[in-house]
Amino acid sequence: MADDRTVLPLGAARCPGVSWDDLAAADSRPMPEFLSTESYRYLGSEPLSADRYTDPGFFAREVERMWPNVWQYAARDEDMPEPGDFIVYENVGRSYLVVRQADGSVRAFHNVCLHRGRKLKTEAGWANRITCPYHAFSWNTDGTLHSIPCAWDFGHLDRAQMSLPDAQADSWAGYIFVKENPGGPSLLEYLAPLPEQFARWRQAPMTTTVHVAKVLNANWKAVMEAFMEAWHSTATHPQILAFTGDANGRNNIFGDHVNFGIAPVTLSPSLDRKGRDEQWQADVYFNFAGRGRLNRDEPLIVPPGGTARATLGERSRRDYSRLYGIDLDHATDCEMLDSLFYSVFPNFGPWGGFKPNLDYRFRPWPDQDHTLFEVRILSRAQGQALDPPPPMRVLAQGEPWVAAADVLGQGLAEVLDQDVGNVEQVHAGLRASKNRRLQLGNYLDIRIRHFHTTLDKYLADRP
Ligand code: FES
Ligand SMILES: [Fe+2]
Repeated sequence: MADDRTVLPLGAARCPGVSWDDLAAADSRPMPEFLSTESYRYLGSEPLSADRYTDPGFFAREVERMWPNVWQYAARDEDMPEPGDFIVYENVGRSYLVVRQADGSVRAFHNVCLHRGRKLKTEAGWANRITCPYHAFSWNTDGTLHSIPCAWDFGHLDRAQMSLPDAQADSWAGYIFVKENPGGPSLLEYLAPLPEQFARWRQAPMTTTVHVAKVLNANWKAVMEAFMEAWHSTATHPQILAFTGDANGRNNIFGDHVNFGIAPVTLSPSLDRKGRDEQWQADVYFNFAGRGRLNRDEPLIVPPGGTARATLGERSRRDYSRLYGIDLDHATDCEMLDSLFYSVFPNFGPWGGFKPNLDYRFRPWPDQDHTLFEVRILSRAQGQALDPPPPMRVLAQGEPWVAAADVLGQGLAEVLDQDVGNVEQVHAGLRASKNRRLQLGNYLDIRIRHFHTTLDKYLADRP
């Protein structure tokens, strides 16, 4: 470590051995530039304060200064496909009614009756009018006032001022976002360059086929950060090291709001190559319980001089092309195999690539000590209409993710249990910490540094 520090500037050191550049150069298909080019910058090496995770005062500043000013992933199109469909999205004390409009657009209103303050809706549904269950004040789905019962007693109210207060709402690729405060970047500006990069992968509509969640005893940032680097795999997920380049992948940061990690399918640099040939690596991947739907009736043979990565890439292109009825011949090995995990500030994590995709969302539930962690699996929509998504299955306290292995797959469920096992102990540790500091790797943890750098911009006093 000392040697590297004396030779290289901070942030310039990389994992010895096979690099992402080596793997990208060996890919069997031309690599899109955004996958082959590094987008890293050194953002400092200062420790983070443990109070950022545990202090109610810090949490209150997030609630006041950050959350109202960011685009929050609130729902998916398939949650509310038809005009009049609505969902309730809640976070950090706010409640939003997100409503599909007659023209197909979405609008978001504060879900609070303007009479005496009852929440208008408590769960998703359909309505041609939004009527408060208490005394039946009612609003049109565009938020304008429809009617007031016993209107003779409300002569002091001006109809024009009785529209439901709204929030910004917009959508991208089936994801519906809300932002409480007006102004700031548009959704597409905020998400850049993610929409441009995902355009290569998500050309057909996707729909939710699995939705599983759990409330965790940890700060929302600590939970999210468990997924913002891959190099914990050596200690935490030993069962995937045969095919996880955990410390020798790529970490990219873009602007303020998006970062991205590639954990390539290759032997972990923490494993000795001796006795672990390419066929062995391919076999472990092929037989891993969570690795998609490759045709298992046909053996997977790495040809002489070939690599596990290229052989698996070829099989994946062929099997998934058949499964989806689309041509994936142009897809790189990377896009068929690797973990391509994006983080959108502050709490949304979509996975890229051509295969069925995951997305994660992390919300304080309801305070700095608890998080609602949601996992969705998206699949290509069959036909024109979006199938209704399954209801969110919430795991009980003490119930492991493998209890949902029937829908998540055994491999993913086991990995999630390992990750979650860490984060609750991280939070307990941060509360107990004597020196109140966390240290970050300059490259391996850059996405976490990037997140906190942006958070600080939102928390800073602005004129
Ligand atoms: S509180 Fe909603 S109508 Fe009275
Ligand atoms: Fe993990």
